Amino acid sequence: MALDLELVEEVLSVAVEQGGFGSDSGRRGNATEGNFGGDNAEQGNHGNRDGEEQERTPMNYVPQARNVDDLFSEDQRAANDYADVVEHDDDVVIENFDGPVVRMQKWEEVELEPQLLTNIKERSKYGRPRKIQGATIPFILDKFDIKAQAETGSGKTAAFVVPIIDCCMRAKSGKGEELFESEMATPYAIIIGPTRELVMQVFEQAEKFAAGTGVSVAKAYGQYNIGRNHHEIRAGCDILVATPGRLKHFIKGGEIRVNKLKFLVLDEADRLLDDSFSLDIMEIVNVTGFPDKNNRQTLLFSATFPNQVMHAADQLLRPKAVFITNHRNNPNKRIKQDFVVSGGQGKLDKLTEILTAEAEKVGGSDKMRRTLVFVNTKRMSDMAALYLSQHDIPATSINGDRGQHLREQALAEFRSHKVAVLCATDVCARGIDVKELDHVINMEVPSDAITYVHRIGRCGRIAQGYSTTFIEGHEPVLNEIAAMMRESSEEIPEVLKSALDQNGGGAAAPAFGQSFAAPSNFANNVPSSGEAAAPSATEDW
Ligand SMILES: Nc1ncnc2c1ncn2[C@@H]1O[C@H](COP(=O)(O)OP(=O)(O)OP(=O)(O)O)[C@@H](O)[C@H]1O
Ligand SMILES: [Mg+2]
Repeated sequence: MALDLELVEEVLSVAVEQGGFGSDSGRRGNATEGNFGGDNAEQGNHGNRDGEEQERTPMNYVPQARNVDDLFSEDQRAANDYADVVEHDDDVVIENFDGPVVRMQKWEEVELEPQLLTNIKERSKYGRPRKIQGATIPFILDKFDIKAQAETGSGKTAAFVVPIIDCCMRAKSGKGEELFESEMATPYAIIIGPTRELVMQVFEQAEKFAAGTGVSVAKAYGQYNIGRNHHEIRAGCDILVATPGRLKHFIKGGEIRVNKLKFLVLDEADRLLDDSFSLDIMEIVNVTGFPDKNNRQTLLFSATFPNQVMHAADQLLRPKAVFITNHRNNPNKRIKQDFVVSGGQGKLDKLTEILTAEAEKVGGSDKMRRTLVFVNTKRMSDMAALYLSQHDIPATSINGDRGQHLREQALAEFRSHKVAVLCATDVCARGIDVKELDHVINMEVPSDAITYVHRIGRCGRIAQGYSTTFIEGHEPVLNEIAAMMRESSEEIPEVLKSALDQNGGGAAAPAFGQSFAAPSNFANNVPSSGEAAAPSATEDW
């Protein structure tokens, strides 16, 4: 099976003309390279700052959230895997707090509002709080600011959404210290996330837990028709989930009023405090009338907190903020990490070979494990999906060049098992939670260890996950990956070991945490692995 990249590109452009490939998902972009992966492309109504957007989002686009009942059903189906999920969560420690600590083992311990408790226990079948939830929720209910770090897939979303809904319910019913009366376009809590898909997902989760509680939830992000978006917010936004660009636009324009704001949450906080987003975040919190840190509760959550963002984080938090952490910027231990040597143009063939072998083994591509394939460029995500589809592995792609309607459609098809394989750029690297996603393939190795941790963290969330990373052997990030594995006492696979040996022995295990490359500005496409940029900086965690 020889690969001719020119041929693939030619076919790709024909596919564009003919209106699609893989699934019946509609038109494909011609994968023009741009500077932005789309994840922070929120600079106005049209996301891509790199000029022409292929497959433009229709001007009247209104995103469709999943139905709350479907979300409850999805949780219930996964409940078998939940039974002992908490046993395998990393332990977390509590820092910057001297008093007695409550670690909630049961939901009942903190007297949540009855409807909320029903939504958690009966309807979502979340039997027990996960460790990060048990540690953070009591502090949040006690009005502390929080910086919370726990591995990918450890349940951080509910750790901030649940207490916010509880506080909002109490405040609305007059049980809280201060009465909160819902007002048009005036949120009680704002949750910020770095990508539109993540904002949609957190919105859905918040809507799910808020079902029947009287707490309204709204979302705001780029490409959503601005008038309709405004309409959604006016219809009720006690909790507003948003990307930084659209949020800034709405707050500065006066469409959103922040005078009653009690909570500010940054999900994927280290990403949002990284340079490209931090300016937006700082602008938002400095808007006249935005409650200062002494007059709001600020919650920062991520699986990774590299040193370089700590200062920015501390600027947002009150001095008594509690730091709850697993002290690891490392991959989730539920993921078995594997490596395959493959380089240059052979990677697409290798990818096809692996997936075809799996399809044959399980009796068809429709029975395969759900697999997320990461690549480093938008063009390659389209090419990989096309190439797989042409080899009888139905696949679709998601990247910043695709219109928002197609991005969301691709994710929906992947979530609903319509396609087994999704080829993605780092627009999907963080936060995205797809049930029964068991395999992540890095067809191109990311340029920094933090992105690696988040990418492979799309699997192994409530059940065992597997990652396969294609390496050529010389990528600088491999040393860091190996160091993380040593630190977690994981055996280094032979392939990785011999690649490192050839490179002069690999990295020594760090004493505590590990040296990290600065997180890539993953709005920018990084070069493909063959020409991967050296990490720009390292630091001790
Ligand atoms: N208490 C619980 N019991 C069972 N399952 C849970 C519980 N809390 C969360 N989950 C499930 O765990 C999975 C991961 O949750 P979530 O997406 O919040 O992880 P995360 O920590 O935010 O990960 P990431 O760092 O990748 O964003 C979800 O599928 C969620 O439904
Ligand atoms: Mg998350």
